[in-house]
Amino acid sequence: MEEKLQELKEQVLKDLANITTVAALKDMKIQYLGKKGSLTEIMRGMGKLSPEERPVIGQLVNDIRNQLEVAIETRSKELEKVELAAKLAAETVDITLPGRKPREGHLHPVTLTLREMKKIFMRMGFAVMEGPEIENDYFNFEALNLPKDHPARDMQDTFYITEEFLLRTQTSPVQARTMQENKGNSPIRMICPGTVYRNDYDATHSPMFHQVEGLVIDKNISLADLKGTLEVFCKEMFGNDVKIRLRPSFFPFTEPSAEVDISCVMCGGKGCRVCKNSGWLEILGSGMVHPNVLRMSGFDPEKVSGFAFGMGVERIAMLKYGIDDLRLFFENDLRFIRQFK
Ligand code: DAH
Repeated sequence: MEEKLQELKEQVLKDLANITTVAALKDMKIQYLGKKGSLTEIMRGMGKLSPEERPVIGQLVNDIRNQLEVAIETRSKELEKVELAAKLAAETVDITLPGRKPREGHLHPVTLTLREMKKIFMRMGFAVMEGPEIENDYFNFEALNLPKDHPARDMQDTFYITEEFLLRTQTSPVQARTMQENKGNSPIRMICPGTVYRNDYDATHSPMFHQVEGLVIDKNISLADLKGTLEVFCKEMFGNDVKIRLRPSFFPFTEPSAEVDISCVMCGGKGCRVCKNSGWLEILGSGMVHPNVLRMSGFDPEKVSGFAFGMGVERIAMLKYGIDDLRLFFENDLRFIRQFK
């Protein structure tokens, strides 16, 4: 028996040297020292020993078991260290690699232009108002001096929801709404930026676009106030060298009415393809608020007067950035949009 025990010890120590993983070591321990392992097997023979031999061999079994357990434990520690080192080496992070930048969003050119327009008017003391995009016939047309059969309605064909409700064709209804909310009290000095709709589609028209409306009502407001205000706006928007001119025009809600042109931002007024050699670019409609419009919304045209204007935000953006097709704003081609970062 003694021999068998010594053999077992040697076998274990030999295997230990060859084992390379903690998992294999565990299996090996069970194989030799486990309940059904080799050592137990040898100990079965103890019954055949004489009473004198038994304690001697018992002592030897305990010694060998202890020695083997210590040896296995020591080897296990070694292997754990090796395995940990390998794992750390495999999982190293290269902290010198450059970071990945998240792609930053940015504002749409129409939003950028609109914000700039708002800022300019806010600096001049204008309040910013809003109105509904689904508007009724009364505010979109009637209250602006465009009765049911007025031919000027043809210029603004839109999307009707019912006979009574439509997608607003202009921001001008917000004039009438603001006047009625003010119940005859002046001064009013407001702009209304917003989305408007028309049944149009070509290089300079989209069925959905944006306008900024303006309205000033007070005692003694004259055409000079209109011209001065718009001149300041145009110079701040397009630069100090820009000139403006007023051309007589017609709008049902203003009298007199004027179309405002700026000197061409491309050629400075010399004449080019963009201004069709005229040197001028039309940018907005305006005029003195029609007495009928004042009266319908609760103001006395004998006591107060006002001016109003309306312009397309896309048109201003096209001139500011030199864009020749308005549809680009809404196609969402990233190659176009990303240029406005
Ligand atoms: N609403 C007009 C349009 O969409 C623009 C306009 C012209 C607005 C003259 C005004 C104005 O307030 O006075 O064509």
